Amino acid sequence: MRWSDLNLGCPLTSARDGHYGAYLLGQKDWPLVENIVSGLTHALPVPISTKIRLCNPVKHTLPFAERLVLAGSSWIALHARSGASTRKRRHGPANLSQVKLLKECLQVPVISNGNVRTYGDVLQNLEFTRADGVMVGETLLGNPCLFAGATPDPVQISLEYLEICKQCPEGSVDLEAAKKHVKHFVDFQCSRRTWISKFIRALTACRTIEEVDKLLRVKTQRWRGKSPLPRDAVDVEEDSEGEKISGDGYDDLALLV
Ligand SMILES: Cc1cc2nc3c(=O)[nH]c(=O)nc-3n(C[C@H](O)[C@H](O)[C@H](O)COP(=O)(O)O)c2cc1C
Repeated sequence: MRWSDLNLGCPLTSARDGHYGAYLLGQKDWPLVENIVSGLTHALPVPISTKIRLCNPVKHTLPFAERLVLAGSSWIALHARSGASTRKRRHGPANLSQVKLLKECLQVPVISNGNVRTYGDVLQNLEFTRADGVMVGETLLGNPCLFAGATPDPVQISLEYLEICKQCPEGSVDLEAAKKHVKHFVDFQCSRRTWISKFIRALTACRTIEEVDKLLRVKTQRWRGKSPLPRDAVDVEEDSEGEKISGDGYDDLALLV
């Protein structure tokens, strides 16, 4: 399905300076945002959605969302944290009761965002908010299999990711971005391992995708007390004991590595 999303969630200072993202949530900018949404609704052949954060004060969130719907927003995604703090923009609990309120009051689908670390959180979130969907940011960086209810072996998922990178047209993969993804996959489950800083240093030093691949298959496996993996050993479905992996909490994850 194709649609166009208006992002009113970005809290970065660049958004403040450019007057966009979460810096359009204030009441004085509501008419401007309404004009943007209705303008897009009339100009584009696809539905328009909006992603917002909590307004300041929080009680303004529902009336703002109602105005977005009247202006033509086909659904609303709420990251239920305030946009006010740029320093701790994803920290602290999300106020999911505001998602629940939007879901109770709006006539369009509502997507809930915030507080998801495990698949169990996805289910709890949906049960509590009754939202039509859940959006996840940070946790998916570490565990891209979250919505499948699985927690893959971090080396295996990194190798699978690198295989995809290798299939991309030459020159189209940003090595530094690829390394960041691998760091997220490994750090998500292994951040407390004694070898993690050694791993990050070695990863930083890698100059090609092949070097990252080798670092994972050989040294990282050794640091984990596991056998090196052959070149074609990419299997995200199973861990090294051949069991299907699924986890629903950090305690479970810690046991896996
Ligand atoms: C790498 C990254 C980039 C993001 N970029 C944006 C963005 O451009 N606009 C936005 O509204 N939110 C952005 N977010 C926030 C997420 O969409 C999400 O609202 C936020 O991370 C809270 O969800 P989470 O607790 O599941 O991470 C970003 C998050 C991450 C991790």
